[in-house]
Amino acid sequence: MRKVSVLVTLALTLVSGASRVVSLPAGQAWQDASDRGSELSRGEADGQVARVLKADAFPTVPHAKFGRSGRPVRGVNLGGWFILENWENPSIFLTDDLVNKDIPDEWTWMNSISDKSDAKQRLLAHYNSWITEADFQKMAEYGLNTVRLPVPHWAFNGSSSEPYLDSIQLPWISKAIGWARDYNLDMVLDLHTVPGSQNGYDNSGRAGAIAFQNDPMNAARAIDALVKMVQWYVNDPQWKGVIKAIEVVNEPKMGQGQIPRSFLEKFYRDSYTAIRKAIDPTKAPVIPTVLLSDAFVSQSSWDNFYSDANFWASGSYAIDTHHYEAFAPLNSYSYDQHIQIACSVGPSIGPTNKKRAVVVGEFSLGIDTRCVPYKPCKGVTMEQDVRTLNKDSQNLFARKFWEAQTSTFEQYGGGWIFWNWKGESTSAWSYKDAVKQGWIPSNLDERVFKPAAGEQSCVSSQPNVPLSFNTRQDG
Ligand SMILES: *[C@@H]1O[C@H](CO)[C@@H](O)[C@H](O)[C@H]1NC(C)=O
Repeated sequence: MRKVSVLVTLALTLVSGASRVVSLPAGQAWQDASDRGSELSRGEADGQVARVLKADAFPTVPHAKFGRSGRPVRGVNLGGWFILENWENPSIFLTDDLVNKDIPDEWTWMNSISDKSDAKQRLLAHYNSWITEADFQKMAEYGLNTVRLPVPHWAFNGSSSEPYLDSIQLPWISKAIGWARDYNLDMVLDLHTVPGSQNGYDNSGRAGAIAFQNDPMNAARAIDALVKMVQWYVNDPQWKGVIKAIEVVNEPKMGQGQIPRSFLEKFYRDSYTAIRKAIDPTKAPVIPTVLLSDAFVSQSSWDNFYSDANFWASGSYAIDTHHYEAFAPLNSYSYDQHIQIACSVGPSIGPTNKKRAVVVGEFSLGIDTRCVPYKPCKGVTMEQDVRTLNKDSQNLFARKFWEAQTSTFEQYGGGWIFWNWKGESTSAWSYKDAVKQGWIPSNLDERVFKPAAGEQSCVSSQPNVPLSFNTRQDG
């Protein structure tokens, strides 16, 4: 989750001239003439790329076409599992023995516990309990079809220059992939951290500087992690092709003093090439889509980069964009403004989604940062937190906000993945608690804010049927 918002401009976007997404019928053949043409027209001069793209045709292996598979992506993130974030995991950060009550991230947490075997025991206990098979069963019951699994680079490529505990996450990552397979949920493997940090946020492992770009070994290590993902989880028939997408890096922050565009573009090309080359078509049941973050900048600013059709085989890559309305200045907006912003995302992703699938890989029901800085909610239970948001007006808003976002993401883009499946006391960010309360329907095809013909908004102002919520207070 990002801590800043770049959505301000969206507030000014008028919902006008919206065009509909042409969706591919289910089962449409991947290799239509134009795809083949772009793969085969490459000359031999650029030997390496040509080889990759020819191999990329993988004639006998189906492509996942994530975001274009013929049904919308409906998913949840499994955040707070393999990368500690203080707001997702306050009980781990605020134990009595830790004198520093302001530990921002896993890097600092590791450095605060001198006994590494003690730290290891805490982490293993957490891995074992945060998400279990029962969670996957519930996700399937709720009609979800996708999970996005954030994984840290140190699970695959540790270094003695970092305090993290390497590799100990792997048995649970395998369990997660196996559960996704068993419950028929597609999985997105998301490299959520890279050496040096790609965004300076807690979610990158280390808050503070953005230094991914400063040492070529950082990108080499990230790519090493991506290649291992392919070797271990794609080129192995036991996983039955459950990995439908691999995201090369979560939320890189691009800009001045941050990651230069040229650096990120090179990393995207290099990691795309490395992933395609690592796929063994004799073993992989499915070719995963390479998922690339929009890095918080406008979709159209990427048009030129992706216009190289000789490199970017259509349908083999997709875009991840994140939509949050919880951070300044949006956190001061009215309910109506939040709804309007959610509806206005359509025209901003729709035109790009026609060229390359755009999936909203993170969003939530949060409209402020209550409980996001972790300390204010220490000891607050989920039930107590729900009760701070269960006035009639709040309950209704949450359900409507849900529908405005997801119906827009499905109509104009390839679908959505909620952040997060669970939390400790952040109910607007916890899918399973939001379902319990009735903010999110347990039947995902249910729409109760369908706008009447001619209505301007993407949702009606009142629900079409009476709604009830698990708990309510007047007001
Ligand atoms: C991490 O990746 C680098 C770059 O490819 C490689 O040299 C190194 O051996 C890898 N380390 C581990 C622990 O796999």
